[in-house]
Amino acid sequence: MGKTVLDYDTVALDDEHDALVIIDQTKLPGDIELLHLHTAKEMWDAIYLLQVRGAPAIGVAGAYGIYLLAKQIRADNFDDFYIEFVRQKEYLNSSRPTAVNLSWALNRMERVCLLHREESMDSIIESLKEEAILIQQEDIDICRRIGEHGLSLVKPGDGILTHCNAGKLATSRYGTATAPIYLGEERGYHFHVYADETRPLLQGARLTAFELQSAGVDVTLICDNMSATVMKQGKIQAVFVGCDRVAANGDTANKIGTSMVATVARRYGVPFYVCAPTSTIDWDTPTGGEIVIEERGAEEVTEMWYEKRMAPESVKVFNPAFDVTDADLITGIVTEYGVAMAPFTESLAALRDEIDHR
Ligand code: MRU
Repeated sequence: MGKTVLDYDTVALDDEHDALVIIDQTKLPGDIELLHLHTAKEMWDAIYLLQVRGAPAIGVAGAYGIYLLAKQIRADNFDDFYIEFVRQKEYLNSSRPTAVNLSWALNRMERVCLLHREESMDSIIESLKEEAILIQQEDIDICRRIGEHGLSLVKPGDGILTHCNAGKLATSRYGTATAPIYLGEERGYHFHVYADETRPLLQGARLTAFELQSAGVDVTLICDNMSATVMKQGKIQAVFVGCDRVAANGDTANKIGTSMVATVARRYGVPFYVCAPTSTIDWDTPTGGEIVIEERGAEEVTEMWYEKRMAPESVKVFNPAFDVTDADLITGIVTEYGVAMAPFTESLAALRDEIDHR
């Protein structure tokens, strides 16, 4: 059998050629093209343009990216090296504001840099590489654990709705929202998955439908405005979505339209689960109101994917890339440590405590 998209790493390091290698997700599902990124500008653009996307994947890309950029720094002493390291780190971090994983991974890399400040440059660079590899390996392990916990919430034959792409293409393997689906597939659960197309960038149609179909999962594509219909018809037993940032009270930022799905799910009594590696929980942000929501260009709504512009010239467009689902619409937050249940202020604080005492 030929290679599928699942056979390629979403993000990889080619250390020998000093390159960050990504699947260009803007070309999917038509072409599977790998991009080799060398400069800070190439990396920034790839994240901004969603050639690499999804909260965990941009965290991994950021970690490998800053390692490769650190390798290029020419400095005689640590202080000069560090000033340039922070400059590059802040530049990469400015590419997308909502997903906390990017700043989380970059901060983790900075801590390694400081921890080894007394050592030689070569040794600092080596430690940065090890940390970036660790971040990616942990991502694989974490997603699998999220999958196990998520799987305990559903049963064979269930209908599952997902929004956007929180799949393998958004992580290093398994995805977050798709991890229970992939594990279920391995174990003969035969889920019926419904993928929202996810306007305006069509991550559901182009990416989720593509990767699940490539994995042999029974997936049905629906437009974003059809989720109420499939829920009302009893086709959905659970919603699994990913997230870009979870506030300390459980309010959750994810792809625009997620909040609408949660509202509809509540109406039809369908449990709504957010799948979140703990790196996506931002305990320093008290509520969703403080989460910065990225706004993107009007052309994504008026032109992209159409043969010719479909909206009137100069019409006003509002294009927030994410929305915040209120915590009270969320049934559970599935992390690598288990499922946090409402009230989330308490359950997430307890989770933080548990992590701190490990
Ligand atoms: O704009 P995108 O495609 O990066 O948005 C991605 C999402 O909203 C995902 O659901 C989220 O990052 C979680 S990915 C495991």
